[in-house]
Amino acid sequence: MESLKRLFHDEFHIGTMLMGTLPAEYSADERALIETQFDVVTPAYCMKPLPVQPQEGVFDFEQADALVAYAQAHGLLITGHTLIWHLSCPEWFFRDGEETASRETILQRMEAHIHALAGRYRGKILGWDVVNEAFDTGPGYLQPTPWAALVGDDFYLHAFAFAREADPEAQLYYNEWDAEMPAKRWKTLRLIDELKSRGLRIDAVGIQGHWELDAIPFKEIDQAITEFQAAGVQVMITELDIDVVLPRFIDDLTGDQVAEMVGDPYADGCPPDIQARLAEQYAELFRLFRHHAAAIDRIAFLGLHDGRSWLNLWPYRRTNYPLLFDRQCRGKTAYQAVLEGCEL
Ligand code: GLA
Repeated sequence: MESLKRLFHDEFHIGTMLMGTLPAEYSADERALIETQFDVVTPAYCMKPLPVQPQEGVFDFEQADALVAYAQAHGLLITGHTLIWHLSCPEWFFRDGEETASRETILQRMEAHIHALAGRYRGKILGWDVVNEAFDTGPGYLQPTPWAALVGDDFYLHAFAFAREADPEAQLYYNEWDAEMPAKRWKTLRLIDELKSRGLRIDAVGIQGHWELDAIPFKEIDQAITEFQAAGVQVMITELDIDVVLPRFIDDLTGDQVAEMVGDPYADGCPPDIQARLAEQYAELFRLFRHHAAAIDRIAFLGLHDGRSWLNLWPYRRTNYPLLFDRQCRGKTAYQAVLEGCEL
């Protein structure tokens, strides 16, 4: 079988972000797919703050250890996701009994968490998403998460400093959705600048790559890669998927409203014209990525194949086809289009 990681070996790492417990919850076919197509794996959940430290000082590394052992046994690199995020983050970080914890206490907890997690895997992890999704979706700089509200706008500077201490060799990343769009591009550039001007390490910016069929912002992606590279960091396309069901207008609607409006139109299979458009648009994306090969270090998908995509569940239940592999682990038309479009 052809292989993405072999095809792009000289250009970028090819990654997959894996949901569920690995290897226990993966079939032999799925593991074969991981091992032949990808050279980097990233856990989708088990290294997030909540599963790692559900209560202060109570750590659970079982799933993370299993993933690391599996990856090492198969010569796969690992990127860790994510040291600091406001979601999947336990309340106790910010509480002191009935009161809100002080800035000092929260920073001590941040330090302890990062040291425990990144310290445990020191030398085994290629790089960490140090901070995930800090930016405001509106005109402001940071979203008013407890991290920003209680520690301050400099909270991420601390996170990057602690990560550097905990694993001095690991690459350090900032990861964000819509990072390519103008509204978040300047924020990304500001964050890079603030880290660098304080002598802190940042190796790459992760553009999450949650895009939608017929609405991929190619121009913005192109521009963002150019600007981030000029700012002195590598670019990673992380969490790549192309939703084929969700219409653009959902932003102001709840999951239930969209579910009622759109339903599950492709429950019996993905129509050929959608497959064809998905293939064209994936091929175009990879042409763009190859054009920027010097700037891009890794391209990673969220989910191994269509059956394991979060887009079957969020923001409502439907049958989706956002990836290059189908539910039987076979390469789809889109997979062939990427390979053919990129024949070296
Ligand atoms: C964000 C996170 C991912 C995953 C997705 C979908 O993009 O970075 O880890 O949780 O949301 O839930």
